[in-house]
Amino acid sequence: MADQVSIFDTTLRDGEQSPGVHLDMTQKLEIGRALVDLGVNVLEAGFPISSPGDFESVHTLAKELREVTVCGLTRAKAKDIEVAAEALRPAERPRIHTGLGVSENHLQYKLKMSREEALEAGVAAVKLARSFVPDVEYFMEDSGRADRDYVYKVVESVIAAGATVVNVPDTTGYTSPDEYEALIRGIVENVPNSDKAVFSCHCHNDLGMATANTLAGIVGGARQVEVTVNGIGERAGNTALEEVVMALHIRKDKYGLETTIKTQKLLEVSRLVSRLTGMIVQRNKAVVGANAYAHSSGIHQDGVLKERSTYEIIDPELVGAEKSEIILTARSGRHGLRHRLGELGFNFPEERFEQLYERFLSMADHKSEVKDEDLRELVSTR
Ligand code: KIV
Ligand code: ZN
Repeated sequence: MADQVSIFDTTLRDGEQSPGVHLDMTQKLEIGRALVDLGVNVLEAGFPISSPGDFESVHTLAKELREVTVCGLTRAKAKDIEVAAEALRPAERPRIHTGLGVSENHLQYKLKMSREEALEAGVAAVKLARSFVPDVEYFMEDSGRADRDYVYKVVESVIAAGATVVNVPDTTGYTSPDEYEALIRGIVENVPNSDKAVFSCHCHNDLGMATANTLAGIVGGARQVEVTVNGIGERAGNTALEEVVMALHIRKDKYGLETTIKTQKLLEVSRLVSRLTGMIVQRNKAVVGANAYAHSSGIHQDGVLKERSTYEIIDPELVGAEKSEIILTARSGRHGLRHRLGELGFNFPEERFEQLYERFLSMADHKSEVKDEDLRELVSTR
């Protein structure tokens, strides 16, 4: 099995489906260029039949972006596929991403199709898409809640029809990591032609398990992950690109896999996407949150100031952050205060420092954080 995981970014498609988010063409192009610079392998640019704006963005990104696969989403319908093929015409590496639901729930309530009808429509969609482009990905919506034997049958049929990648979405964020790993492993081991396609993880975060499920899917044999910057997307969002990339990087000992992502650009891209979408990144967000490299308790500050790795597994510079931050609060100790005062150019004898430390603690009891200007005020008054 290949030792590389392909990064399929869907910030501009599933990510843009976040309630309240709308990106115009210029913004999409800016994000698209940043994603190419970041090193993503596949960029899902939109759903061309859904609106003239989406058609335009897929078409423009297909024309402007080189050295990346540009992908357009379709339903398993001839018109969708024809429109996507047209939008993708200028692409250097076009991919059509088509598919249909596979769970009983979706078949019965949404598609109102039998299993056989859905299978037939899926196979026809793949064949039509292959008549336009050599790279066709098939998504089996709501795989996480589907009958395993039916999933195997669909996978075998769409690969035989020409699918190069098979996407196994946990559309509703329902599965747990052990189940998702078993789902992917089951497909790889039980579908006779599984060696002819790459399997892709597409997980949603409804129960907060999208990243864990995606990593479990990789362990099960998937070699593509579908992710968004900052984990934005429908409802509780998609798997966060930065989390999967950094988990693979930091735990290379466990996964033994590489990506082509330039990790030093992660923070910059996260900030760009946050600014253009208006989706604020929570402070304690893994990898890119404002607090991700900040230490506020005395015990942690003491450890980090002696040796960073005591409380940090990611060197902040690896994701483009400047350095670890020591935040002064009521939980900070003498080591943290002395360090910050030193950075501000103050070095006091023991007795004076003890006096300042007592006053610092009283001030910190009334504030969430003691800032540099507070410290300056503290040292300037007796
Ligand atoms: O969550 C999902 O199932 C999807 C598909 C359209 C790929 O976004
Ligand atoms: Zn999705």
